Amino acid sequence: MTHLFFEHVGSQPVDPVLEIGRMWAKDPNSEKINLGIGIYLDEKGRCPVLKAVKEAEENLIVNEVSKTYLPIEGEPHFLEETKKLLFLENAPLIAAAQTLGGTGALRVIADYLRLEWNHPIYVSDPTWANHHGVFKAAGLEVRTYPYYDRTTHTAKKGEFFDFLQRLEKGSIVLLHGCCHNPTGIDFTHSEWDFILDCCLKKGLLPLFDIAYLGLGDGIDEDRYAVNTFFKSGIEMCVAFSYSKTMDLYRERVGALMIVNHSHTLEAMQSTIRQIIRRNYSNPPAHGALVVQTILTDPKRKKLWLDELEEHRLRSCAMRKLIFAELGGWIQHKKEFQEAKGFFSYLGISKDAVLELRKESIYLLDDSRLNVLGVNSANIGRLKQVFSRLRHG
Ligand SMILES: Cc1ncc(COP(=O)(O)O)c(C=O)c1O
Repeated sequence: MTHLFFEHVGSQPVDPVLEIGRMWAKDPNSEKINLGIGIYLDEKGRCPVLKAVKEAEENLIVNEVSKTYLPIEGEPHFLEETKKLLFLENAPLIAAAQTLGGTGALRVIADYLRLEWNHPIYVSDPTWANHHGVFKAAGLEVRTYPYYDRTTHTAKKGEFFDFLQRLEKGSIVLLHGCCHNPTGIDFTHSEWDFILDCCLKKGLLPLFDIAYLGLGDGIDEDRYAVNTFFKSGIEMCVAFSYSKTMDLYRERVGALMIVNHSHTLEAMQSTIRQIIRRNYSNPPAHGALVVQTILTDPKRKKLWLDELEEHRLRSCAMRKLIFAELGGWIQHKKEFQEAKGFFSYLGISKDAVLELRKESIYLLDDSRLNVLGVNSANIGRLKQVFSRLRHG
């Protein structure tokens, strides 16, 4: 007789971003539009492979001589180059590891903090939905800080700054280094300086999530916060992703960095190594070698930076186009126009989002849109549908 060991197994709620992607893929309408997805899309609606990546892959095919395991913490040159990219130097006082994308970096950091620190972590309200899931799964207590008013669609920066000053010593504060997901609202330089000052005075531990480097105001501006914090000497954690910055989504390339100025750096690195070893043993090589092959060759690096800048300019152009064509529907005009990166809320009701879905136009339920889902071929249809729904 077969024992039904799993007959009581329940299912989990679907991930909203992945669910939108599934609905969109199943929709037979040839004029469907996906504004819910979190990836770069070009004018033809494709997510391309960068030329710099193709060149690096061709180079690897010829020159890679072994498929032996990487060290547990990943490829050393990849880590050096990633440090230089973020901190402009191969900073020594950092525990570091190559990770499975930005999510993997967040998870290993969270596992580490749960073991060694175990203070609550504060994330912005709202934030990338998976932050809650990843930190909770690691056993951290997740709390939120005020960031954005979903009714007026304005930032709550003043409230956040007051909140920060009342946080208990040792709290972990998750900060989006640039291109806040989902609001697109970032801090100015002086606001970052103020946040740094609060963290130093109050003894808070910043954890930067940087998943959109170069896609907000350009690479120098986008690393301002992480680099300024680093130069101040504050101890902090960084979860970095190459998924969007190099369009390497499926290759799962990221890195974690923990700045540690005390004598425990080696001990910290050994614990990180152990977390990884017990989890997935060691990271995959291909994506990290692609990144390394690009960043260590000035010509390839320039090609990548040019392509990244093209991506950034396209997202700025699409944001302008959306505002020009659909601006009448957007209440929070200033916030929408000034937002950085791929995302913003459109600021329409869930009912309106569901109406749009019936027309094969897909946004997240909370009306977050990716401006790159728009192109010159579909903006006309978008405008038509919006007009029809408003007047219909
Ligand atoms: C804010 C933020 N952090 C982290 C990630 C994770 O990136 P990865 O795909 O590299 O795991 C994403 C991906 O959408 C993101 O938006």
